Amino acid sequence: MASKKLLLLPGDGIGPEAMAEVRKIIAYMNAELKSGFELEEGLVGGCAYDAHGKAISDADMAKAMAADAVLFGAVGGPKWDSVPYDVRPEAGLLRLRKDMELFANLRPAICYPALADSSSLKKDVVEGLDILIVRELTGGVYFGEPKEIVDLGNGQKRGIDTQVYDTYEIERISGVAFELARTRRNKVTSMEKRNVMKSGVLWNEVVTANHKARYSDVQLEHMLADAGGMQLVRWPKQFDVIVTDNLFGDMLSDIAAMLTGSLGMLPSASLGAPDGKTGSRKALYEPVHGSAPDIAGTGAANPIAMIASFAMCLRYSFNMVEEADRLEAAIAGVLGDGIRTGDIMSEGSTKVGTTQMGDAILAKFKALAA
Ligand code: NAD
Ligand code: IPM
Ligand code: MN
Repeated sequence: MASKKLLLLPGDGIGPEAMAEVRKIIAYMNAELKSGFELEEGLVGGCAYDAHGKAISDADMAKAMAADAVLFGAVGGPKWDSVPYDVRPEAGLLRLRKDMELFANLRPAICYPALADSSSLKKDVVEGLDILIVRELTGGVYFGEPKEIVDLGNGQKRGIDTQVYDTYEIERISGVAFELARTRRNKVTSMEKRNVMKSGVLWNEVVTANHKARYSDVQLEHMLADAGGMQLVRWPKQFDVIVTDNLFGDMLSDIAAMLTGSLGMLPSASLGAPDGKTGSRKALYEPVHGSAPDIAGTGAANPIAMIASFAMCLRYSFNMVEEADRLEAAIAGVLGDGIRTGDIMSEGSTKVGTTQMGDAILAKFKALAA
């Protein structure tokens, strides 16, 4: 790819704090490695609502559509709890996902060796963990219609959300999971609730048929999503790639985050389909965590999920595999040196804030390049 147009959407709460650390890495890469990133900025979430009454403006949406990749911080917070539903901060993120057709959300949960003690689970349960949750991101109950609150006129109201999946949506997300499994340990676990949901029955059928037709070299197992949640906590190392719908994927990835030590550790890539001609794809990179209102403004946020999301951006959008590997090695190195933000603090480690953690990772990244 010739151009490297990056749109930064820091958002609210700890989003801008974590994004500032990525900005430093990009500045170094542009100055010293001549990486040639062209940066643009935009507003999303509560800050966009404050500026123009919408969770993302059409102008910023157009910038996202024109960018080679988008880096997203986090949105939301108590300040916007009572704004109208359609313009709540989270609507900005949902519009980006939907309009950019980012149907494949890759959420890797890796337990860095140095953090095996930081999880709330026993060390042998999480040590060496490397799983990938592939979450469907543009369908299901998040977007299905009708979605409304109906006044029944008898003092009662009815809240309605609709879970909808079509064959093509299940086919393409399971295809992504099978392809990725081939580059890993060759196993896919598909999670749904076919015992209760019609969409679960179809999900199971389509994944099975896709496997039979195109991916029979990959090991496939099916698991009910509730049991999957239990198995993730009981013995997560049984999994390689998990493929699941939008809502189950949201919940299962927060569970997986805690296996790695903290929600502040989990990056993600939200990808569209490759363009038939150029092979390039729309992409947005976002930490799994939110705006963390409880620690926003205190300088305590862990920037690793955001920095690791940028590493995914280097790998998936710009094919800068060497730099991505080096940035991930820098994160592992700093953790190995016992440098910790509060959320992953353990006895004998050095506690630092967001900025110091970012500085330490950048210094390690530079040292590894030398
Ligand atoms: P949250 O992820 O913001 O926070 C959950 C807990 O994890 C908090 O105790 C927080 O302090 C901690 N945490 C999260 N990220 C951390 C980090 N990087 N370093 C250290 N600790 C971290 O989830 P929530 O509190 O349920 O939601 C807060 C707001 O964020 C809500 O408005 C929600 O809608 C929004 N949200 C946004 C996104 C997103 O923008 N992608 C994702 C999830 C939640
Ligand atoms: C996530 C978040 C979002 C989701 C919200 C903020 C819309 O929880 O990315 O995990 O539910 O998908
Ligand atoms: Mn979530």
